Amino acid sequence: MEINIGKDKNLKNVNLLTEKLNHHGLICGATGTGKTVTLKVLTEHLSDLGIPVILSDVKGDLANLINPGDPEEIKDRLDQMEINDFEPTGYPINLWDVYGDEGLPLRVSVSQMGPLFLGQILELNEVQLGVLNIAFRIADSQGLLLLDIKDLKSILRYIQENRQEVSMEFGQVSGASIAAIQRKLLLLEDMGGNLFMAEPSLDIEDLIAEDKSHRGMINILSARKLISNPRLYSMFLLWMLSELYESLPEVGDQEFPKLVFFFDEAHLLFNNASKALNEKILQLVRLIRSKGVGIFFVSQNPLDIPDPIASQLGTKIIHQLRAFTPRELRMIKEISQSLRHSDDLNLEEEIQNLKTGQAIISSLDASGSPRPVEKALIYPPRSSFEPLTLTDYNRVIQNSNFYNKYFHGVDRESAYELLAVRFEEEARLVKAQEEEKILIKEQKAREREKNNSPVTKMFNSALYSFTRQIGREIARGFMGSFKKK
Ligand SMILES: Nc1ncnc2c1ncn2[C@@H]1O[C@H](COP(=O)(O)OP(=O)(O)OP(=O)(O)O)[C@@H](O)[C@H]1O
Ligand SMILES: [Mg+2]
Repeated sequence: MEINIGKDKNLKNVNLLTEKLNHHGLICGATGTGKTVTLKVLTEHLSDLGIPVILSDVKGDLANLINPGDPEEIKDRLDQMEINDFEPTGYPINLWDVYGDEGLPLRVSVSQMGPLFLGQILELNEVQLGVLNIAFRIADSQGLLLLDIKDLKSILRYIQENRQEVSMEFGQVSGASIAAIQRKLLLLEDMGGNLFMAEPSLDIEDLIAEDKSHRGMINILSARKLISNPRLYSMFLLWMLSELYESLPEVGDQEFPKLVFFFDEAHLLFNNASKALNEKILQLVRLIRSKGVGIFFVSQNPLDIPDPIASQLGTKIIHQLRAFTPRELRMIKEISQSLRHSDDLNLEEEIQNLKTGQAIISSLDASGSPRPVEKALIYPPRSSFEPLTLTDYNRVIQNSNFYNKYFHGVDRESAYELLAVRFEEEARLVKAQEEEKILIKEQKAREREKNNSPVTKMFNSALYSFTRQIGREIARGFMGSFKKK
């Protein structure tokens, strides 16, 4: 099916094919050239077709999708494009916010986030990552839930106190590495970690929803505050993508995508990932296509997207790019050369002379081949340009279907509580043993300590009791978050 997103100079519609949206896309252009509006126009069409959307809102200029636009404000464009059936429309949105200010709290438990993303957020080195992995392995294998930061601290303390046994089973664990992770967890707490590494964890399937009239829900991750920590921002979005990947079934190519995900400030994703993670991102982007998820990267500079991804993108919407430096000129040359166009079109010139809300559009035809590029004026959005007030935000949050599920945090029994009991018992045992020492000869006591240390005994019995109390082993997907069955 065709989505009309603009008109060419003969006022002929320029469209994208819905069945190609899972081949991913790019929206680029210098600041103020129309990227966000294009994203809104595309989102409105998708919602109308019943396709849910996930957007990150870095500037606070997306939540206004909920309100109908004012035709007066876009009168010139309507005239210019000869649009006489403009219908102001408000769209169904859900707001999410890691900090809970401008959306329902978006929380992720430590267990659910997994060691790969957490290690990135904490900026751990290789050795520290190793220790974090051990902590997760001990917890996962025993079905021990790490819900929040205090759980993670507990398990680290546990490893610290049973370092010998842990090292014997999993390889050397140094006290210095544990201490380093503990310090970084303090930093995470300073960033508000206790707010968002908590329960109830976001159930990603709640983002795949429609409203009563079967329009796709538009999920907006309010990221005005989150973006000030680029690493945290990109890991949250990446975690959402990997959750989608884990929970959606394989569907192959279909007429409509199951969901479209817009990744604003996309360069942050690639700049903040380690080499190993970057490889996984490439894999994820490739694999998620067959789950019917389309990803649009939004960025000022098209070269921010690594080649292996850029070369696969099915749709490119290029707003005006400016060339103040030789590097920028090279960027424009490079992107022009990558696009299919007739020789008489000077694409480099065209790209630099585009007007606001005008773009060069490269997309795939039904057979999957790139169509020759088209130059189009993008339609105006049917929703408003007016930013929401804080009161508006609160109203949307309170009216959300998911208010009851996510608004309040919960603190259920997890590693912290279970280990607290263990620590107490352990302390009691150690004390008892010290008393024993006084009674029995030194030599004998030392022998017993060696063969049957209370710590070993504690370690085993603690793990045994977790098994009984939690039961299920936790399986992880290839990005390290929970694997759904
Ligand atoms: N398709 C359009 N229809 C009507 N107005 C538009 C359109 N595209 C852009 N505009 C106008 O241009 C302004 C800037 O566009 P927009 O916010 O999309 O830029 P941007 O590329 O996202 O900028 P930044 O990089 O700063 O986020 C809009 O507020 C709007 O007034
Ligand atoms: Mg913008």
